[in-house]
Amino acid sequence: MLRRLAKGFITEIAKKIYRKTIFRLFSDFEKIRRVCLFVSLQSGWKNCIKVKFMDISAIREDFPLLKEKVNGKPLIYLDNAATTQKPDKVIAAIDYYYRHQNANVHRGVHTLSQTATDLFETVRGKVCKFMNARESCEIVFTRGATEGLNLLAETLTQSIKTGDEILISESEHHSNIVPWQLAAQKRGLVIKVLPIDDEGMLRYDMLDELLGEKTKIVSVAHVSNSLGVVNDVKAVFSKVRNKCGKEVRTIVDGAQGIVHRKVDVQDMDCDFYCFSAHKLYAPMGIGVVCGKQELWENMPPYQGGGEMIKDVDFSGTTFNVPPYRFEAGTPAVADVAGLGAALDYLETIGLDDIFAHENVIMEYAQERLSNTKGVKVYAAKAPKAGSLSFNVEGLHPFDVGTLLDQMGVAIRTGHHCAQPVMKHFDIPGTARASFALYTTKEEIYTFVNALERVIKMLA
Ligand SMILES: Cc1ncc(COP(=O)(O)O)c(C=O)c1O
Repeated sequence: MLRRLAKGFITEIAKKIYRKTIFRLFSDFEKIRRVCLFVSLQSGWKNCIKVKFMDISAIREDFPLLKEKVNGKPLIYLDNAATTQKPDKVIAAIDYYYRHQNANVHRGVHTLSQTATDLFETVRGKVCKFMNARESCEIVFTRGATEGLNLLAETLTQSIKTGDEILISESEHHSNIVPWQLAAQKRGLVIKVLPIDDEGMLRYDMLDELLGEKTKIVSVAHVSNSLGVVNDVKAVFSKVRNKCGKEVRTIVDGAQGIVHRKVDVQDMDCDFYCFSAHKLYAPMGIGVVCGKQELWENMPPYQGGGEMIKDVDFSGTTFNVPPYRFEAGTPAVADVAGLGAALDYLETIGLDDIFAHENVIMEYAQERLSNTKGVKVYAAKAPKAGSLSFNVEGLHPFDVGTLLDQMGVAIRTGHHCAQPVMKHFDIPGTARASFALYTTKEEIYTFVNALERVIKMLA
């Protein structure tokens, strides 16, 4: 008994020394990194050696909310899959719009309206470039990924026959399940589900079995929001094309994908790619569906109202060309301005560097969590981006999240709007830590320490 107590005591002390050493190493590493950054910037080596250091401390200065305290503790924000924080540049763009540019778009001959219209259309062009779409008219602004998927579910299913099939996957967010169910109920369509394996990866081997003559739409997430698993959508669509031809519509729910992976819609060969701007450091209430021009041209409108018409008469209405046909009513122009500022901001930092940094954070977080006693990490072997889901043996994720919040750590708990995934693993929910370009190793270190304290408190 005494020996066991002594052993436990020594282990605890050893752990504390280990943590302190690691933390000091991080601080030293941070200092070295800053010196390297300074030297490389001053000397112009950066361009010669093609190494760019992301100055995370400087980047964090751009995000005012990261300086907040929560429950008296410095905020560690690890709920980025739900929404990301916004940089000053985005907040300033919205502020500037309302102070100097506010007018309705596309409708006025006056200067202010033209300024607002130019701004709106310029951002459409920026989104087009960001996703490598062919033309900016392929970009339709929506309220977010949810509205984009509802738009597609409603309009694309109008031209398919009763009994035709829609294939989605088991790991979809409810936004990529329910709109299809609503359309299927309305039009007598069948929903087929591509299962995931116990690592949360799509069962690519079952595509052959599930795809057939009746398949008309395939819609899958680029990155799963509940597990963070990166799906090989290109491989899925290549299979779809080989087996079912060009007539099947291929859709990507990119709400999580566009934040953590470079998106090239031409390379992916998808017909439509949807995302929400608020997960990409831009404002809430604005999103995008990028679709092939020739497909938009033959699609019926989603909503009726101003802007989407060519001619209105009581005998009938003719519709505007895409993208305007799908943008009924006054759009969220200020939020579009914010989206433009967010894309500029990301470009300044560099997507490659951002994703490389996020990969380092993901690896470190997974290693630390996997080595924490009692913690089970889901999809541990799968390729992941942005989010890490876990549970603590014997504890409800809600309790874990609530106590972490008291320590200033914001994570998400629950089913993450992906109940079929929870049913697959036979669990009520998970705790999910999700990362962004401003997440630091130090934050992960503090988060895991806080988690260890929670485990001790609830044990
Ligand atoms: C994969 C995925 N799809 C769709 C959505 C819905 O996004 P929004 O609520 O912004 O429309 C989310 C939001 O978390 C998501 O993660």
